[in-house]
Amino acid sequence: MAADDATPVSSPLTACLQESPIRPATEIGRACRYGDLVPVIEARELTKVYGDLRAVDAISFEVAPGESFGLLGPNGAGKSTTMRMIGGTSLRTSGTLLVNGLDPEIHGPEVRASLGVVPQTDNLDTELRVRDNLIMYGRYFGLPYSYLRPKAEELLEFAQLTEKATEKVDNLSGGMKRRLTIARALVNEPAVLLLDEPTTGLDPQARHILWDRLFRLKEEGVTLIVTTHFMDEAEQLCDRLIVMDHGSIVAEGSPAALIRQYSTREVLELRFGSDRNAALVDQLRGYADSIEALPDRVLLYTGDGEAALAHVRADGLDPVTSLVRRSSLEDVFLRLTGRSLID
Ligand SMILES: Nc1ncnc2c1ncn2[C@@H]1O[C@H](COP(=O)(O)OP(=O)(O)O)[C@@H](O)[C@H]1O
Ligand SMILES: [Mg+2]
Repeated sequence: MAADDATPVSSPLTACLQESPIRPATEIGRACRYGDLVPVIEARELTKVYGDLRAVDAISFEVAPGESFGLLGPNGAGKSTTMRMIGGTSLRTSGTLLVNGLDPEIHGPEVRASLGVVPQTDNLDTELRVRDNLIMYGRYFGLPYSYLRPKAEELLEFAQLTEKATEKVDNLSGGMKRRLTIARALVNEPAVLLLDEPTTGLDPQARHILWDRLFRLKEEGVTLIVTTHFMDEAEQLCDRLIVMDHGSIVAEGSPAALIRQYSTREVLELRFGSDRNAALVDQLRGYADSIEALPDRVLLYTGDGEAALAHVRADGLDPVTSLVRRSSLEDVFLRLTGRSLID
């Protein structure tokens, strides 16, 4: 299927490719990015089995063009496996999957050309300097130097790496490597960017720089598909998400809708000291809609945390520390699975 009825917006890439014998790398992706209503991803009963393990177990979801879509779940939930099937680097066991209307197992090259892929582990070429990583990656797509030279400068600027252009990759910090990997994934101007755990292992400052770069892409209309086990990342980046556990989807919606549906407005966190938290759970039940006991604290789910705290204190229970906060996706996950996202 070609993007025949959608005129690609003119860019240096499309301009130079018109003169080139190779097929426009982003033709299919751009059809979606500029108004065609084909879902970017349509997964139906998508399944991947490794031996006895159902790593991805009959999941169904759709991603709309321009949406920022998240797969949130703990390690082992099946997020990376799903991403690899979308990217066409892993064959599915069963189910159907369309990426920009095409099956990645049949139209691998077209699908790969329409996507930017940021794998969970950086796979930059350490033999090459920073700028050359961008240029050589573009060469794999068959893009000409006349396009790639200015594009590399633009992407270095985007990734805030202009001053590192001639450095060795090994000299970059973790955050810089991640930004370079993202910049590299953008070399073919993909309409869809797959980001597998974009900020895992980064310090808070590096994460915020990266989130800022991703916001910019979202503003430009790039569809972001992000996996993460960080609820704050999912809340920051995702318009809508699926919560995955053991290969299945356990909930789906916007962060706000999931919190409304599965949690209370507020959470009162109480610490009574590690030896007393569990012992007090039964006594605390009456103060909240529901309760979760973690090793280090007890969570009381309630519409009004301060009121619950006042009751607890009035009855002579004296926590060592108390905190009232709004519910988060972490609470949603805890409610759905009885486990914390980060073990
Ligand atoms: N190539 C593989 N062979 C066998 N098992 C795998 C393979 N890749 C992943 N798995 C298993 O599939 C499950 C899901 O893995 P993965 O998709 O990497 O989860 P996530 O990215 O959510 O942490 C895990 O139990 C993992 O050990
Ligand atoms: Mg993973």
